[in-house]
Formats: sequence, structure tokens, C-alpha cells
Amino acid sequence: MQAAAARSVQPCRPGAAAAGSRRAFGVAAPPPAAVRRQAAVCHAKVELQDLEGAMHHLEVPENENVLDVALEQGVDVPYDCKMGVCLRCAAKLDSGKVDQPGSMINEEAQEEGYTLLCVAYPTADCSIRVIPEDELAIAVLATS
Ligand code: FES
Repeated sequence: MQAAAARSVQPCRPGAAAAGSRRAFGVAAPPPAAVRRQAAVCHAKVELQDLEGAMHHLEVPENENVLDVALEQGVDVPYDCKMGVCLRCAAKLDSGKVDQPGSMINEEAQEEGYTLLCVAYPTADCSIRVIPEDELAIAVLATS
């Protein structure tokens, strides 16, 4: 009697029921995000200098932004909105190239190398310095 009651208990974890269905049909569960990232092919190598001057070497897969990869690797970089709006993840490109879709930085400042890590998608190997957001604000104002 007690065993029958135990069998009727429904899983309470999100996705647990779907996982049970996948097992029942012999379909493998998708790998966790960390495993998917390890399997992703490096699209660009990025040397990232943090605000303390420490260098970090990142391998950024295609369609990934520099901020997400840096945070996953435990790099301490300032950020807030992760949408290219707040300017907290300000940085300066010393070499290489990034696409910046949705960035709040004007084109002139982008051409001078200013970028936001949360919307920085490398299109080539890069060397990038994290900078104080004040420095970026001054650069944007100067080019407006
Ligand atoms: S985190 Fe806000 S602009 Fe990048």
C-alpha cells in the first residue's frame, strides 16, 4: 500500500517529467550548458585585461559575447544589464575586431575601439582592456 502511494508521487523538479519521457523513449538528455560550451569550437582567442591589470585568455565560440565567456571562466568584470545599455562593461579594443549589435556606443567611439563586453562578438582574435565606465562615457560624449 505504501509502495503504491510512493509510486504516485510526481516529480517536482522542472524538466524531471520530460527527462523521464526521454528515458522511456531511449532519447538521450541534452548535455548541460557547461558541457555544450566545452564542445563549442573556438571562434576567436581574446586576451582580456581586467581592471586590476591581470590578463585572461579566453576562447570565444561563434555567436558568444566576451562578457558571458569571461564570467563563465570566473573573470571578475563589472556588468549589470547585459544588453548594451548601462555601460558598466566598458572596454577598449587594442587589436582585433568585434561586432557590437545593439550597443549604445556611437559609431565614432566604436571606431576608436570602445566596446561593451556584453555585446562584443569577436570576428577575429582580439586584445581587449576593461576600462572604467567613466572613461567610456567621456569618449562617447567627446565623439557626439
Ligand atoms: S552590462 Fe550593461 S552595457 Fe554591458
